[in-house]
Amino acid sequence: MPETQHDPAQATSGTTPLLELQRVETFYGNIQALFGMSIRCQPGQVTTLLGRNGMGKTTTVGSIMGTLPCRSGAVYFQGERIDSQAAYHIARQGIGLVPEGRQIFPNLSVRENLIATAANYSATAAADCWTLPKVLSFFPRLAERLDNMGSQLSGGEQQMLALGRALMLNPKLLILDEATEGLAPLIRQEIWQRLAELKQAGLTILLIDKNIDELSTIADWHYIIEKGQVVWAGDSAALNAGSALKARYLGV
Ligand SMILES: Nc1ncnc2c1ncn2[C@@H]1O[C@H](COP(=O)(O)OP(=O)(O)OP(=O)(O)O)[C@@H](O)[C@H]1O
Ligand SMILES: [Mg+2]
Repeated sequence: MPETQHDPAQATSGTTPLLELQRVETFYGNIQALFGMSIRCQPGQVTTLLGRNGMGKTTTVGSIMGTLPCRSGAVYFQGERIDSQAAYHIARQGIGLVPEGRQIFPNLSVRENLIATAANYSATAAADCWTLPKVLSFFPRLAERLDNMGSQLSGGEQQMLALGRALMLNPKLLILDEATEGLAPLIRQEIWQRLAELKQAGLTILLIDKNIDELSTIADWHYIIEKGQVVWAGDSAALNAGSALKARYLGV
């Protein structure tokens, strides 16, 4: 049984989680990677998946997004089961992904990258919708690089582009798989600042990152994953108080 503090659902009692995984098992061929993964993302909160390399974080993301089929268990989004739905349909329901390795289109311009995947893109959408002008004012660097190809961007600019592209889908849930991996400290700071602003605006975020000290400043709830299952869950205060915990499961 995982060690947990109080159930996070109780902290916001009566609230349906925006996302819930119940005992998800996922395989690569015959090789099992998730062994009963159970997590919840409460609306408006930042939830993290922590764990050393190869523990199943990206596999969990693929199981949510429908790119890796769950062999058993269930995934609920807004109270509805989504684990048997097609990946494009899951994304369109309101899950925006910033994937591991960013995966922007290197041969498309920044502008094209931003509008290529946006659903029903319209420059004159409702005021609270993400549009190209709104993304560009959120990331002024992208405005400066609008006609540059994806391949010409720095790592930090690519991550802003991946984040901007996900926002263009007007997600209800934003998932970042390695939010600041390989980025310089100043750029990391900028990404954390933007994520804090998104949280402030009410967006629900599922965050994967190895910079524990930085992510815990914006996160509400953490899951530590080992060998495809949750071994600990708790809030930032509990995580930061647990140096043995961090050494054991996160190698920090
Ligand atoms: N395409 C694949 N084929 C077979 N096994 C895979 C594949 N991708 C991942 N795995 C295995 O699944 C397990 C979980 O990998 P996963 O990529 O989910 O880990 P992770 O926690 O995201 O790691 P990292 O921190 O390095 O990104 C690992 O044992 C990995 O070797
Ligand atoms: Mg990964």
